[in-house]
Amino acid sequence: MATPYDVVLYGATGFTGRQTAHYFAAHAPAGLRWAVAGRNRAKLDRLLEGLAGDPGCIVADSGDPASVDAMCAQARVLLTTAGPFAKYGDPVVDACVRHKTHYVDITGETPWVRRVIDRHHGQASADGTRIVPLCGFDSIPSDLGTLMVVESLRERGTATKSVSASFKAKGGLNGGTMDSAIALGDSGDAAQLGDTLLLNPPTHQSREERKRSRDRRTVDYDATRGVWLAPFFMAPVNTRVVRRSNALFAQRGEGYGPAFAYTEAMEMRSKAKAWGLTLGMGAFEKAIGSKLGRRVLARVAPDPGEGPSEAVMDGGFFRVRLVGEGEDGQRVLGVMQADGDPGNRVTVKCLCESALALATQLDDLPGGPDRGGVLTPAFALGLPLLDRLRAAGFEARVEPLG
Ligand SMILES: NC(=O)c1ccc[n+]([C@@H]2O[C@H](COP(=O)([O-])OP(=O)(O)OC[C@H]3O[C@@H](n4cnc5c(N)ncnc54)[C@H](OP(=O)(O)O)[C@@H]3O)[C@@H](O)[C@H]2O)c1
Repeated sequence: MATPYDVVLYGATGFTGRQTAHYFAAHAPAGLRWAVAGRNRAKLDRLLEGLAGDPGCIVADSGDPASVDAMCAQARVLLTTAGPFAKYGDPVVDACVRHKTHYVDITGETPWVRRVIDRHHGQASADGTRIVPLCGFDSIPSDLGTLMVVESLRERGTATKSVSASFKAKGGLNGGTMDSAIALGDSGDAAQLGDTLLLNPPTHQSREERKRSRDRRTVDYDATRGVWLAPFFMAPVNTRVVRRSNALFAQRGEGYGPAFAYTEAMEMRSKAKAWGLTLGMGAFEKAIGSKLGRRVLARVAPDPGEGPSEAVMDGGFFRVRLVGEGEDGQRVLGVMQADGDPGNRVTVKCLCESALALATQLDDLPGGPDRGGVLTPAFALGLPLLDRLRAAGFEARVEPLG
């Protein structure tokens, strides 16, 4: 049966949700049928008043699974920003799998993603339904940046031995993001963040794989990039996603390399700053792990529904540099960068372009229209998504390194 909407934007009244609605109003191709959705009719009406185009409107509360089920039945692609996902995400993803509705979100809650994989990967694979969490700043630049480097080395005749990614970023903090981090601590899920292979299938959980998948805990100087490298606070999310991508490709005989290793870091200009960041990150992890710490964080962070000013969001940027080394010793440098606050402008672009790729070019995506499962951005959307992001203003290139 034909569904009334190509894409439904759920959580559209939230801080990032409102931005996704405006992105669709500005960038959805002519003829695309889309709708905004959320739990509060009055808020949705207010959103619609300021929106160009003629989107539909659906009321669905994640506490009322029947309403969520009815919403998902009406969509070919469901995009959701209603988080914390461990709180509001289950009925949405469950209904999408039931109705074979493709799904994208911007969660960074990997323990929740692990549960979604365990519950739905088999059925979604069998049905050809693409369930693609983690389509925001975490983890699209890491995942597509790595894919881009691996493909470049492949074109140069070699499998990839390692990719070392390093980030520079400027932006603000959303109340919803802090709320999700606090929820991870409250639920006890945060304990799983240290599992470096958390998202890998059982076929890729070997001792060797674990040995080459360590989290960075210290600081060192990187002569190739001329910067100090410190632990990156999103690495415990992004590295698990990139490793799952490699494992999913490897299951089809298209793995990145037999001993592929991926690491991630933050670029700092001085050793002192790099150590300052490392200590700050340790303090944040401690705070998330304690009830009192979470109470303090909730008090100082913006409330859910709030986020940075327009000026902060417009003035932000990110850059990731990825040093790739081939099995044969060749080295390349991948660079991906874009203007705008990573947690908002970049996230919204990544998420919306992911949904548009599913809605408008399913046949061009890796594996063709039948690929399904609980997948990563690289395995589900791959280089066609990278092309879309380039057209939307991302810079992404790979060059040889001497
Ligand atoms: N991956 C990334 O890089 C990235 C970047 C930014 C954000 N995020 C994540 O995205 C999520 C949203 O962030 P945000 O800043 O947009 O947060 P937010 O402004 O608090 O938005 C949360 C949304 O969830 C909705 N919601 C709450 N309870 C609901 C329920 N029972 N049923 C249906 N919807 C419900 C809210 O609806 P109301 O409007 O009615 O309150 C709102 O639309 C968070 O989990 C955050 O961590 C990820």
